[in-house]
Amino acid sequence: MTTPAAPAAAPKGRLGNGQLRRQVAEYLADHPGPQKVGEIAKALGKSAGAVGNALTTLAGNGEAELVPGKPIRYEANSATAAAAAAIAPKAPLPPKPAPAPKPAAPAAPAPAPSPAPKPTFTPKPATAGPVTRPNGQVYQPRALADMPDVEALRKLRDAGVPALLYGPPGTGKTSLIEAAFPDLITVAGDGDTTAADLVGEYTQNPDGTFTFIYGPLIRAMQEGRVLFIDDATLVSPAVLAVAYPAMDGRREITVKAHKGEVITAADGFYVVAGHNPGVHGAILTEALSSRFSVQVRVSTDYDLAHALKIDSRAIKAARDLADRQASGEIGWAPQLRELLAYAKVAGILGEDAAIANLVGIAPDEDADAVAEAVAKAFGRKAVAPLALGRQI
Ligand SMILES: Nc1ncnc2c1ncn2[C@@H]1O[C@H](COP(=O)(O)OP(=O)(O)OP(=O)(O)O)[C@@H](O)[C@H]1O
Ligand SMILES: [Mg+2]
Repeated sequence: MTTPAAPAAAPKGRLGNGQLRRQVAEYLADHPGPQKVGEIAKALGKSAGAVGNALTTLAGNGEAELVPGKPIRYEANSATAAAAAAIAPKAPLPPKPAPAPKPAAPAAPAPAPSPAPKPTFTPKPATAGPVTRPNGQVYQPRALADMPDVEALRKLRDAGVPALLYGPPGTGKTSLIEAAFPDLITVAGDGDTTAADLVGEYTQNPDGTFTFIYGPLIRAMQEGRVLFIDDATLVSPAVLAVAYPAMDGRREITVKAHKGEVITAADGFYVVAGHNPGVHGAILTEALSSRFSVQVRVSTDYDLAHALKIDSRAIKAARDLADRQASGEIGWAPQLRELLAYAKVAGILGEDAAIANLVGIAPDEDADAVAEAVAKAFGRKAVAPLALGRQI
């Protein structure tokens, strides 16, 4: 048996840092209009996952545009051609150094080995600019391991290291994952999630026959995409275990429900999970925890809240409440989601209603503490939950 030769223009195998990105940018620049990830991958002879990664980096750097809507498509912008040109094509191997001249005298010391040639290509540092999520919302990257969080997650994907993001509701876990991976497939986990929700199941056709419809885990594996298991810790451990063989070195699973079919993960396949430690029934088992070598705590970024132009008094109240929550005094504090909602409600119904609503959305047991913190921050005597008043 002979190994088929790879296309000369786009050799298979690993490319140097940035080389695939250059090829993808070139492709976009040469093909105006929206382009599907799979088609670019096919044209370049590369995996959809790797091309998806290159595209997210380009888009994250403002060097390509994610076209809103489905399927995921990208198009060149005014910076794309320049991005392609900025990455030097893979440098040819340096010529072998000429044999060292014979020492003139036998006593002469051997010539010192010449230093390794400097690489001609220096990867461009990632820019920390905003990233547009597939739903059109703008995500402001935060720092993770001294780089933009989206960049850090993409690196983990490249290296195949599963990541778990954990933190209270409304702090930005889903947003970060969506911003980092526009090609993701999401499974919203809960106590009723079954193995069939991950691998798929037989469904009946109109003619009475049955077809096996692959589930999100299999699709992500076959298409080299990211599987995001949100609220993974609400899913029964036995169900989650279905995904484990795909996540470890084997990168394959046997689909018992479909005649024992063996599915092997394409390049780019990656699993990332979300976990809400405070939610009733969320249990981070040892088996799950040990599969996610990287676990990142996500909390509300108050600087970001300021940058998003949320009223600083509301932020102050949220901060004070978060401090009291950290010390175990109370159980709830408004997070970024509630602060954004505050700003929205203030814009629609006015400041008084928005303040009252902050108190109204607090859990009963913490409502007094929230009312007190909000009243203090806004210089009010007292704040009552938003309620209907007299007939008008
Ligand atoms: N870095 C960010 N830049 C801009 N907006 C953000 C950022 N992080 C979070 N947000 C906004 O904050 C809100 C809450 O974020 P998100 O839904 O991602 O939280 P979450 O942690 O996934 O919550 P849950 O645990 O309830 O699913 C969203 O409206 C989101 O757009
Ligand atoms: Mg979420």
